[in-house]
Amino acid sequence: MRFMLLSGSFHKRSVSQGIIREVVQYLQGHECTVPRLDELSFYSEDLEAENKPENVARFIEDVSLCDGIIFCTPEYNHSIPAVLKNAIDWASRPAFRSPLKGKPVAIITQAVSEVGGARAQAHLKLVLDSTISKIQPIHEMMISDVNNKFNENQSIIDNKTLERLHRHVNDFVSFASRP
Ligand SMILES: Cc1cc2nc3c(=O)[nH]c(=O)nc-3n(C[C@H](O)[C@H](O)[C@H](O)COP(=O)(O)O)c2cc1C
Repeated sequence: MRFMLLSGSFHKRSVSQGIIREVVQYLQGHECTVPRLDELSFYSEDLEAENKPENVARFIEDVSLCDGIIFCTPEYNHSIPAVLKNAIDWASRPAFRSPLKGKPVAIITQAVSEVGGARAQAHLKLVLDSTISKIQPIHEMMISDVNNKFNENQSIIDNKTLERLHRHVNDFVSFASRP
């Protein structure tokens, strides 16, 4: 199967990118793409109509072709990072018949705090609802207290977190395989 992994964070020591590396490794045998959403222009109806940038066109094409999308994002100011929202905005057109319609999606949030990005998780669900994508129903995957669960290379050192992540990804592969 073909999966896309979308993050809201791209700095060198990003925990989200550490989780994505773990998921890509776990999904060996499947095809995975991890686009740089921070390099996409801000959405504009003019750009969309007249001259869609090549990386945006490629991103939208990849969204159309994949069998599922795994979102993995930090919480920024009680919501999702702007780069992630921008990418969803690009892929969400035309409204109600975009490449996101019916697309199986999984959500993973993480944060230093005890709530593990729960507000970003809720906001992302709300945003994805508007695209009519197919959101994985259970379990919710939030990782709290990341300072104690990851090492300095952003690899997971907490076995329970690793088990939960693998279960979540397994469940998602089954969910995305269903017609
Ligand atoms: C601009 C900004 C806003 C943030 N806002 C929140 C927040 O509202 N709630 C929270 O729990 N963490 C917040 N954080 C902390 C990040 O969610 C946390 O450090 C996360 O692990 C970063 O993930 P990353 O390493 O993938 O970038 C914020 C961080 C930044 C940079």
